[in-house]
Amino acid sequence: MNFYKHLQSELDLIKIDNLYRNFRIFSSKPGACVEYNGKKILQMSSNNYLGLACDERLIQAVIRAAEKYGIGSTGSRLLSGTHKLHTELEEKLSELKETEKAIVFSTGYAANLGAISAFFNEKDAVYSDELNHAGIIDGIKLSRANKFIYKHCDVNDLESLLEENHKKFRFNVIITDSIFSMDGDRAPLKQIIDLKEKYNALIYLDEAHAFGIYGEKGQGLAHELNLNDKIDIHMGTLSKAAGSEGGYIAGKAELIDYLRNKSRSFIFSTAPSIPVTAASIKAVEVIRDDFGLRKKLHENIKYFKQGLSRLNLDVIPSESAIFCLKLDNIQKAVDISNELLEKHSIMASCIRPPTVKTPRIRLCVSALHTKQDLDYVLEKLAITILSRLL
Ligand SMILES: Cc1ncc(COP(=O)(O)O)c(C=O)c1O
Repeated sequence: MNFYKHLQSELDLIKIDNLYRNFRIFSSKPGACVEYNGKKILQMSSNNYLGLACDERLIQAVIRAAEKYGIGSTGSRLLSGTHKLHTELEEKLSELKETEKAIVFSTGYAANLGAISAFFNEKDAVYSDELNHAGIIDGIKLSRANKFIYKHCDVNDLESLLEENHKKFRFNVIITDSIFSMDGDRAPLKQIIDLKEKYNALIYLDEAHAFGIYGEKGQGLAHELNLNDKIDIHMGTLSKAAGSEGGYIAGKAELIDYLRNKSRSFIFSTAPSIPVTAASIKAVEVIRDDFGLRKKLHENIKYFKQGLSRLNLDVIPSESAIFCLKLDNIQKAVDISNELLEKHSIMASCIRPPTVKTPRIRLCVSALHTKQDLDYVLEKLAITILSRLL
């Protein structure tokens, strides 16, 4: 069989199923509004929750660092690539997270992949929420640990899996997102921690969509709920609320030292670049100190949530900045997303299988949005979606 013909026929099948993916290319700074195809559009699908991806404080930090230290880190962390900015970032992160140490990877995906596969193997068992992020799923696969998938946020299902299996393995680890990226709901952290204690398990918590947003200083959901000292492995990203790029693992010193020596996605990849690292340092400082941004974001979340509830749409109950409208078929989701973009200048992503089981429109609120922006989105959503129900 010809390889390229094979690829084309696979692509054709994806198109027939309405699952073909393409880029939507924007050509301005990130922000509440961005330029797309020469037009100003309202951005409702970015993870720039606090607006830091276009914050002047980060931009100036990047310029200063690039002028002083250059661009590329020039090597992997264990060879020539560790700059003093990397260790400064890791110290700032562990201070904020109130852990002994932290380590930074080039992306959140690489952090999940590299940490899970380094810590666990076939002697261990991983209990993973069915809606955990792809990086977690891939990390588990790579680790060869025994995998038990529990129903989404279902602590009874988790408990029955733990009860039946925990005695068979060296370590049992429960892995969950704190905020689920494609649903916007929260893991039942308190109950999960009760099970961790009952079955002497470990907890690995992915705070990708909570870092910068919850907790007095933006540390994440575990801090907000006063449960941070119950988490064994704290994971998060610098690519969402922090407006930069990179992933981190924070925890006890041995944990971090072990990753530095054993994690393949950390060891065999060039260290994050100087400008990105400088942006991340500034982002951690802003997250720690600028309470006003977080307050504005939470006001916007509340306002948008109330507005959506008045529309009576099929919205997945959200406890975050992420709001998802469930739709009964893929074509409808694609059409709604396209109509919002082309007719009303609103970027609202359509999320389809295999990323999720049921198609949906995913909307993200940011601290940059004004009430008028949110009112406009609510009005156009109502027109676009309700007209299809008639
Ligand atoms: C829950 C979760 N974990 C990890 C990641 C990966 O982070 P990054 O985009 O920094 O690679 C994401 C990003 O989509 C995410 O949603």
